[in-house]
Amino acid sequence: MYDVEAQIFEKRRRELMDRIGSNGVAVLFGEPERTRSNDTEFPYRPSSDILYLSGFREPGCVLVLAPGPGRRVHPVRATTRPRGRDVDWAPLWDRRAVSEFGANAAYDIAEIDKELPKFLAHRDTAFWPIGQDHDFDRRMIQYYTGLRFVRRRAPEAPARFGDIRDLVHEMRLFKAPEELDLMRKAAQVTSDAHVAAMRATKPGVREFELQAVIESYFRRHGAEFPAYSSIVGTGDNATILHYTENRSALESGELVLIDAGCEYHFYAADITRTWPVSGKFEGAARDAYQGVLEAQEAAINDVRAGIRYNELQERTARRLSEVMIALGALTGSVDEAVESETYRKYYPHNVSHWLGIDVHDVGAYFDDTSQWRKLEPGMVLTIEPGLYFPAHDESLPAGLRGVGIRIEDDILVTSGDPENLTHACPKSIEAIESVINAGL
Ligand code: GLY
Ligand code: MN
Ligand code: MN
Repeated sequence: MYDVEAQIFEKRRRELMDRIGSNGVAVLFGEPERTRSNDTEFPYRPSSDILYLSGFREPGCVLVLAPGPGRRVHPVRATTRPRGRDVDWAPLWDRRAVSEFGANAAYDIAEIDKELPKFLAHRDTAFWPIGQDHDFDRRMIQYYTGLRFVRRRAPEAPARFGDIRDLVHEMRLFKAPEELDLMRKAAQVTSDAHVAAMRATKPGVREFELQAVIESYFRRHGAEFPAYSSIVGTGDNATILHYTENRSALESGELVLIDAGCEYHFYAADITRTWPVSGKFEGAARDAYQGVLEAQEAAINDVRAGIRYNELQERTARRLSEVMIALGALTGSVDEAVESETYRKYYPHNVSHWLGIDVHDVGAYFDDTSQWRKLEPGMVLTIEPGLYFPAHDESLPAGLRGVGIRIEDDILVTSGDPENLTHACPKSIEAIESVINAGL
């Protein structure tokens, strides 16, 4: 189902083991199932780092990467494991880990307290996601303590601890070709789902009906889940950033905002589109839409190797300030709006986040010198400027009140022009109007 070859997972594990060094050991764990109500669980979604490194999808597993001397390039499945020294990775749960997922060994999770300390013994550095789960932290410290005082002679315990997420997340930030294939597919399914929702738009339809159109499109086209809770907000609801009630009926004269993306074989897409319920952009809402669209297209064009991440936001804040002043939503100069950050009143969020296995994907936003990171080829990020004019804000021109607009695409940084993974989803005024009107 994950559609990534076993050798690719192995390549990723080898790379991670190179990063932790032959005297390190890494321990990762998958989240357990969670109760939804009484004796019923939420649908299980495997933990992203475990997926990335193994493709394994069972809840509550533990993955150990223990590089062995001389066995770095061509791992051989071990039949004996003196102190775990010759084991490349070993998830501690069921036997399929060995037969299907390339592990050298697998153990029942009930054996964890007996088996895991063996992998930690005689290693310089133990890596795990420190602080992610306090029970797991306590376990790791117990193993350490047990090894530290096991003998009077040289301690067997690791001398240092490191956070494995720093290493795995740096790898995940740069998307490999097989990952981009899945992201392009997620982007395509999501684009088409938004078109289906545009076609289903008419006055009287409820927000949840459009949500159902989008999410059923995802599922019918092979995506397993929505990557996040779908937002469908019409009129003033579109000005509420994390609105997910999705219960109101659409009224003519409103714009409806949909932020929805599928998760396709565990890779997320994240698209927002905003369109008129009537099928026609009009008045101040039309001008506001065109302003956001131009700011969004300019920001996509900024997504180039070498630019620092914060510049995307700074340039967008300036462009949207110009739009807000032209619309009469803000007074004063653009410089004032930017310096005093008054633009935040109607543009309160950031323009971008990393995208990948998680919708808000992992990866550092700062470099080693604590400066905002420079974009590099292989990174994928969203570009999502928006303007939100609440209905109750009487300082606004009447035509803007109750208008919320966001336009969001998913962009790959390349060594040349940015690649818009979600290019197929209509966003010009003409393109959107013609899609909606074809459905009416
Ligand atoms: N859909 C979540 C976001 O746009 O960040
Ligand atoms: Mn987003
Ligand atoms: Mn979004």
